[in-house]
Amino acid sequence: MTSTGLPQGTMPPLELLMDASAVADADVDILVIPSFSGDNGIELSLGSAPGSPFDRETQVSIWKSLVDIGARGRAGETHLLPAVPGIAATRLLAVGLGDADALTDEGLRTAAGTASRTLDRLSPSIGDGSVAALSLLGTLGVGPATEGHGLGSYMYTGAKSQDAQAARISRLIIAPPTAPRAAESAATDFSRACVVIEAVTCARDLVNAPANILYPDSYARIISDLGSQAGLTVEVLDEHQLAEQGFGALVGVGQGSPRPPRLVRVSYRPDHPEATAIGALPHVALVGKGVTFDTGGISLKPSPNMGTMISDMGGSAAVVAAVIAASELDLSVSVTATVPLAENMPDGTAVRPGDVLRHYGGLTTEVLNTDAEGRLILGDAIARACEDRPDYLVETATLTGAQVRSLGDRTPAVMGTPGFRDRVSALSREVGEGAWPMPLPSEIASDIRSDVADLRNIPSKSWGGMAAAGHYLAAFIPEGLPWVHLDVAGPAYNTTAPYGYTPRRATGVPVRTIIAVLEDIAGEAEGASSTAAE
Ligand code: BES
Ligand code: MN
Ligand code: ZN
Repeated sequence: MTSTGLPQGTMPPLELLMDASAVADADVDILVIPSFSGDNGIELSLGSAPGSPFDRETQVSIWKSLVDIGARGRAGETHLLPAVPGIAATRLLAVGLGDADALTDEGLRTAAGTASRTLDRLSPSIGDGSVAALSLLGTLGVGPATEGHGLGSYMYTGAKSQDAQAARISRLIIAPPTAPRAAESAATDFSRACVVIEAVTCARDLVNAPANILYPDSYARIISDLGSQAGLTVEVLDEHQLAEQGFGALVGVGQGSPRPPRLVRVSYRPDHPEATAIGALPHVALVGKGVTFDTGGISLKPSPNMGTMISDMGGSAAVVAAVIAASELDLSVSVTATVPLAENMPDGTAVRPGDVLRHYGGLTTEVLNTDAEGRLILGDAIARACEDRPDYLVETATLTGAQVRSLGDRTPAVMGTPGFRDRVSALSREVGEGAWPMPLPSEIASDIRSDVADLRNIPSKSWGGMAAAGHYLAAFIPEGLPWVHLDVAGPAYNTTAPYGYTPRRATGVPVRTIIAVLEDIAGEAEGASSTAAE
């Protein structure tokens, strides 16, 4: 990622081992090896094919050492072993993957993430603190192993003095499968994984930044820099332009802060010949909530844990990272990310409960709780995004506490048009972000009707809060447009211990879901055009 001027999380450089037979001689401190749990305990499958560095005798001796220390090969296990003859690495790290027949991409990603975090923890006590590792987890799948290792080794120390990061992994090399003809797809999978890692890291860095350095104007400038460095078109509206053009809700939410609101749009248009030849490529509108800090406003939040509200711009960070990734992956789809940026603060100038705001496009809202601010600014942004007449709309936000209460802090909720909703949920589960489809029961729509405006921003009842928010957003969606809303209030920010490839604090969710959706739509368009050309 190019520099944003913000503190950045760090991770070791990732490399793909070009010569799959160079494992034995690799000049590394630690060799990461996969292990599985079978009916009779731990199993190794380090390959007996010609060229495998592990002869039968070596494999048996590693297996015996693992049995002796009680290793079972179950998911989540890691065991450090001394060197074995014939291998240059000075230590082995055996990583459990569970049942070999039930191994999934997500199981591999998770194990690789756990391995990376273990390597980091071991680093200070091995070698001179600059530990290089070669991972044979890549032999089970280069894409997931690279993603898991990369994302799991991300470490954010913000403004801490630098010695916090002194002893880390220095180099992480991924070994590809040894099968013939695997080399080419290994290189493709590796480079896609690197783009994905970069996008997730970009979103994590933005979300991790505290609100005194990341506020609407500074954030807009950072997005402009990131966008133009990637060759994308960026457009920024300031508070005066927003007021002139009728973005009444974004202006209203932002008016309690001395740091005024912004609306940023970042566009990617594919320029490769195949794409332009098709003529009408699909256009995907992305919209993400960018509340740089959410105090609740006049409907002030309680103090405990209010600091986690630096993550209330997680949706915007995800869509900005995703549009940049679409361009780096050269996808055959047009993408425009629209992000409303505001700081929700209490002040003499702030929006009050009872105020009525007029959205871009004309809908009006009675604000009954200033803490339900996300849907207000999203209404304006969705209305603007739909002026472009997109073919799909993907919107994401840290929108409701109800999402966390119903699905917990790791499972995003997806609402929207049923077909697209189910497609997005399925893709999200494939990439390991685990989103789940949720209904928009029709009776809840009447809970957000107001007597004095088109909508009220909180439901008249104390239940169904996530669906009420979904219905509110639906009011801005034109008839017939396939759309989804991903509520990531819990999943965007990890307030508990790290696990798998997920660190503490910013997770980067739902960046990988959105990239997968863009790839899926691009793939469909390419399929259609090649059929047409035949
Ligand atoms: N940003 C919050 C939602 C949130 C909660 C994000 C927990 C991350 C973790 C949102 O602006 C909010 O305050 N929502 C209120 C809405 C309510 C007043 C209708 C909520 O869900 O409590
Ligand atoms: Mn709020
Ligand atoms: Zn909020």
